[in-house]
Amino acid sequence: MRKQTFKFSKSATDIFFDLSITKLKEIVDVKKVIFITDENIFTQHQKKFKGFNTIVLKPGEAFKLQSTIDSIILQLLEFEADRSSILVGVGGGVVTDITGYAASIYLRGIQFGFIPTSLLAMVDASIGGKNGINVELYKNIIGVTKQPSFILYDISFLHTLPESEWQNGFAEIIKHACIKDATMFKLLQANSLKYYQSKKKELITLIERNAKIKLKVVQADEFEKAERKLLNFGHTLGHALENQYELSHGQAISIGMNYASEISEQLLGFKQNDAVNSLLHRYGLPTNVSYNKRKVFEILKMDKKKAASEINYILLEKIGKAIMLPIPLADLENLL
Ligand code: GLY
Repeated sequence: MRKQTFKFSKSATDIFFDLSITKLKEIVDVKKVIFITDENIFTQHQKKFKGFNTIVLKPGEAFKLQSTIDSIILQLLEFEADRSSILVGVGGGVVTDITGYAASIYLRGIQFGFIPTSLLAMVDASIGGKNGINVELYKNIIGVTKQPSFILYDISFLHTLPESEWQNGFAEIIKHACIKDATMFKLLQANSLKYYQSKKKELITLIERNAKIKLKVVQADEFEKAERKLLNFGHTLGHALENQYELSHGQAISIGMNYASEISEQLLGFKQNDAVNSLLHRYGLPTNVSYNKRKVFEILKMDKKKAASEINYILLEKIGKAIMLPIPLADLENLL
């Protein structure tokens, strides 16, 4: 068993990059564990939950709500969960967010860990400590920044992942390459989705490399004062599109990255936007959508990253080197 520990401002997270969920007993006292998962994961992997107290949620972002938290709290009381209980979220980003938040407020905070089951959750959503829920249209508007005690990567969960979910994960992987890792960008250019789906060792190495990119950024700036904002590359326009149209997160940020690359060309002389565009296509991601510019711009203005009359946009100087540039709203409207 290979354990790697990452220290944060108030706590540390143990990461197990290639470990079966059946080995959970080697990490924690399983008598204390209560799983939180969703109906999809539970149905597909029922055996893995056998013998554990398990809270099964309705799947999807639409249930990332206070009412879900209330029902979790009631079930925890039924299970007689106390301060020594450990909540373990098994699922994608919605499940890990809900688990981290519920654990942080139940009895004013109990221990929690994650077993991410989607590629996106493995490389991004389960990492970083921001755990929260939505209120009406306001995404992640309440929550905490609290790191999990552990993250366990069991790659066998990816066997049941639909193609669109693989693409979703690769959108964040390409984002990491664009902002931090030019060598990985080249590696991704040389390989393909099929390659990673069929090569377990290479996939684990890629997941570990990406998780470490995010972990390092979060360690440097846990509370998003500066460096961590770079992770928002493609997300400003991406979130606005995701809110408005039937796009997955990966598709929306892929389009956002393409636009951000073009803006980078116009404002910073970035010369590699064709390479970004074709890499996104290579992994099955869209780079354009016809959208109502006025409507999307209105949502974009409401974005949390807004500062007065400017928006802090993440742009590329070159592949592997991102910067944050405040762009006046009026200029941005023209650029888009
Ligand atoms: N939970 C995702 C993050 O902290 O970025």
